[in-house]
Amino acid sequence: MTRRTVRIAMNGVTGRMGYRQHLVRSILAIREQGGIDLGDGSALWPEPVLVGRRDFALKSIAERHGLDEWTTDLDAVLTDGSIDVYFDSQVTSAREDALRKAIAAGKHIYTEKPTATGLDGALALARLAHAEGVKHGVVQDKLFLPGLLKLKRLVDGGFFGRILSVRGEFGYWVFEGDWQEAQRPSWNYRSEDGGGIVVDMFPHWEYVLHGLFGKVNSVQAHAATHIPRRWDEQGRGYEATADDSAYGIFELEGGVVAQINSSWAVRVNRDELVEFQVDGTEGSAVAGLRRCRAQHRSGTPKPVWNPDLPATESFREQWQEVPDNGEFDNGFKAQWELFLRHVALGTPYDWDLLAGARGVQLAELGLRSSAEGRRLPVPELSL
Ligand SMILES: NC(=O)c1ccc[n+]([C@@H]2O[C@H](COP(=O)([O-])OP(=O)(O)OC[C@H]3O[C@@H](n4cnc5c(N)ncnc54)[C@H](O)[C@@H]3O)[C@@H](O)[C@H]2O)c1
Repeated sequence: MTRRTVRIAMNGVTGRMGYRQHLVRSILAIREQGGIDLGDGSALWPEPVLVGRRDFALKSIAERHGLDEWTTDLDAVLTDGSIDVYFDSQVTSAREDALRKAIAAGKHIYTEKPTATGLDGALALARLAHAEGVKHGVVQDKLFLPGLLKLKRLVDGGFFGRILSVRGEFGYWVFEGDWQEAQRPSWNYRSEDGGGIVVDMFPHWEYVLHGLFGKVNSVQAHAATHIPRRWDEQGRGYEATADDSAYGIFELEGGVVAQINSSWAVRVNRDELVEFQVDGTEGSAVAGLRRCRAQHRSGTPKPVWNPDLPATESFREQWQEVPDNGEFDNGFKAQWELFLRHVALGTPYDWDLLAGARGVQLAELGLRSSAEGRRLPVPELSL
């Protein structure tokens, strides 16, 4: 097979997401499988150029994986005509500037969410990319999770009848950092550094709800900072200025009501770290990262409320596992492959900077709804 290379400047690969999901599990995994088969006797071959602020950290990653290109000079990489795609998984607050430069330099864009810290910036990026004619994509990994792919299959197959409601439960305990190290970066808990669970998770909920059930028409949210003091990577105490929990109600087109709790201050009593229950007139389903279980109308038990008697039924056992019926790849990798095909072949790709701006919009409106204590409409965005 002949190789067709696509050169990707990857900025933020020393971070959690950039290293594990994007470099190792996506780009290097694509190389390990021999590239992306384009179906014409050629394979698309990604060549990463690692970009970051710390030379020694980039060098060490490059050496670990047999790569030989890295740089701390973002401007130089953007003026390098051999680079096709700019990828960004930096801290959120650093993203908008870097993306703007990369678009202006004519690079195709692939980026983590949120694409900017505010809607104006996110929309401006989408418009700029459109005007420059570059291709652009935003990570929407949850749509590619096995559990949600199976849920989507149920939706598309009409399993639910009329969908009534969606209830999402996301979260786990993030250690404060004093007694046990925190398992997430400390900037996530400081709003001045782009942190906060609304800014982080509402972009995900926007595309999940939109992609599976319909556009979000309104939002009502309550954001809270339950843990006001945390300890950072150096063990220094700091004030957690950002929200660590958010309780949101979203009205979707078609009348579906979605309610999603997001929290880094809950202990898990669920099968998975995120779960969505969908109830419809004909059936219900509960989907997590990997599993999806369904209960049809015909198999629905008839519980009778009686607090005087212990429960005699095992309600969880009354659900049926939805089969995989296929193999699921890592969600980040699956989306990278679609994006790189889009770049190479011009195949359709919907998860672009305008879609990314919708996520930023929902986060912004969620925070405003919480601050003002009222439900807000979500206007349709356009270029
Ligand atoms: N798609 C998802 O599921 C998902 C999950 C977690 C995070 N994210 C997003 O990915 C991005 C990175 O998150 P992460 O958890 O990997 O963060 P991280 O702190 O682990 O990594 C941040 C990266 O940005 C770089 N950086 C650039 N400027 C910086 C600065 N001024 N201060 C600190 N670091 C700086 C760091 O060197 C590092 O490479 C965020 O925008 C976040 O919203 C997405």
